[in-house]
This record gives sequence, structure tokens and C-alpha cells, in this order.
Amino acid sequence: MNVIRRRGWEIPDRLATPEHLFFNRRALLAGGASALAMAPGMAAAQRVSDLAKMPDPTADLYPAKRNETYKLDRPITDEKINANYNNFYEFGSSKDVVDAAQALRIRPWTVKIDGLVEKPIEIGIDELIRKMTLEERTYRMRCVEAWSMAIAWTGFPVAKLVDFARPLGSAKYLRMETFMDPKMAPGQRQRWYPWPYIEGLSMAEATNDLAFLATGAYGHPMLKQHGAPLRLAVPWKYGFKSIKSIVRFTFTEERPKGMWESLQAAEYGFWANVNPAVAHPRWSQATEEVIGTGERRPTLLFNGYGEYVADIYKGMEGSERLWA
Ligand code: MTE
Repeated sequence: MNVIRRRGWEIPDRLATPEHLFFNRRALLAGGASALAMAPGMAAAQRVSDLAKMPDPTADLYPAKRNETYKLDRPITDEKINANYNNFYEFGSSKDVVDAAQALRIRPWTVKIDGLVEKPIEIGIDELIRKMTLEERTYRMRCVEAWSMAIAWTGFPVAKLVDFARPLGSAKYLRMETFMDPKMAPGQRQRWYPWPYIEGLSMAEATNDLAFLATGAYGHPMLKQHGAPLRLAVPWKYGFKSIKSIVRFTFTEERPKGMWESLQAAEYGFWANVNPAVAHPRWSQATEEVIGTGERRPTLLFNGYGEYVADIYKGMEGSERLWA
């Protein structure tokens, strides 16, 4: 993402505590604790890291049967290219986060469902995945930075999670949140970002069949850099809406504010539907670079998915900022 850091509440880099001092201060604070008192915590950490090394407990569900409804107009991006060109700010602000993202611990992983629901619950990711029927879908992905890829996701419709959650009639939005663990994710130590990463959908969007929760890609469980173990794929919106590594779904009456919207509302709005006719304030959205091919092609309205989603926005034109 291309963000100009200039908000009043942001602290300049020179005033941020350098990392080594930050850790020294923590060590100082922990200084009173005896080595013995720390031992149980270390044992727990050991167990968690062993779990992280285990093979994915849902690996037997892949590859899932492809749903042929959603066709691509271009070849699927080579997995090697896709897996080495990522936006995952929790692990760095460059596209080269693959090594850093391997620090992401994806088991145990608990998903919380709360807010305006009949009964809030917490559920382990493997139990949640096994409650759903996985399918494969090929989707285009258009980043707001004017590049695109085509991906074979595996997962289940967001609508299935909504059914499972049993929201109340007063729920108007679905707010999603990424994990928060600055020790594991160095990007979260950059305090000018309003962590954790948040994104949201209206209920009409969340229950549209195209809205998809991906647990895997390219016929196997999700790679860490792609947002394992659970990420959103909403192909008619700019890529930043597709929140990665989700730990919480909250049904709300108020429209949630995404992380990028909190940082720069004029450039990264709530709706963020792809529209080649509406330029980003700093660049055109008319065309996109197809990553891995060098090709530039015209961007399509709703990224080409208008037949499935345009109805959601009928009557909203003019009164809402539908485009990022
Ligand atoms: N989710 C989280 N938690 N953190 C991020 O930095 N980046 C977003 C989105 N989801 C991001 C995120 C952006 S800007 C894009 S373009 C896509 O993830 C990139 O997904 P990919 O790396 O799988 O292509």
C-alpha cells in the first residue's frame, strides 16, 4: 500500500523507541521474576512451537472440488510468483515478506464470533473448517496499487459462516480482525499503523455468494504469506479489503473502519469496489499490470464481477463513496 504518513497522531520515526531499547526495557521490567517463575511460560511456548511445526490437520481436505461458476479470463498466476509477491504489513511493508511471514504461528488458532449474534462463540480453526464444505474457486484479484493476479482459492462462502454465527436482525455489518502479536509480527511494532488490521463488509456483501473465506490456495492449505489459516477473498473489491489471518468476526450495527481507512480515509474507503473510471487520488485505476507476465490490461468495473454484485449497490450511487 502506498500511504503518506502525515496524520497528527503519528509519531515520527526519530521519536519511536528503537527496538533494542524497547526490549531492554521489557527485560528490566521482568527483572524481578526468578528463572523458576518463568519456566512454565517457557514450557508453554515450547508446546506451541511444536504445534506450529505439525503438518496441517486439515491437509486431507485438499484439493477440493472446483466450483465452475466463476471463470477466469486469463491464466492462473504461477504459484511461485504469487507466493513471493505479497502485501502482509504485519511482516513488513515490502512485497518480499515470505521469509518474515514464516514466523506466523497458525496452530493453535482460535476464531471468535461475537457482537450481534444469538450466542458468541470461540471455535478452533480445524473444527470450523470441518464444519464447512470446502470448494475451489478461481478468482481475479486487483490490488489498489494497480496490479493483478489470478488465484485458485480453496475455502467456503462467507455466507456459510454467517449462517453458522446466527446474527441478530439488527446486524448490518461484519467486522473482521487479524491477530495482534507484535512479538511474532515485527510490522505490528511500527506503531504509526493502527493495528490490528481490521476490515468490514455490509451484510448484503457478506452474504453475496462471491464473498469467500479462503483456507487454502493452489490445492493445498494456505501459505503463511497468503494469510493462513483463514483470509477473505472479495474479488470485486480492491485487494486491501481481503483481510488475512482472521481471528475475529463481529456483527455490528455501526460500519466498521478498516485499518487503511483509519490511516488515510480519502484514499482507502469502506466500499473500495473496483472502478477503472475513478482514479485513486495519486494514480489512475484504468489499467493494471498482470503480475508475472508484464502485460498491462484494462481494469474492469467491479473487476468483471458486476453480474454478481452490482445489484447490492443499486440506489447508493451518489450518496456513498463506493470506490476507493
Ligand atoms: N491483511 C492483513 N492482515 N495485512 C495486510 O497487510 N494486505 C492487504 C490484503 N490483506 C494485508 C491484508 C493488501 S493491500 C492486499 S493487496 C492483499 O492482502 C494481498 O494479498 P496477497 O499477498 O495474498 O496477494
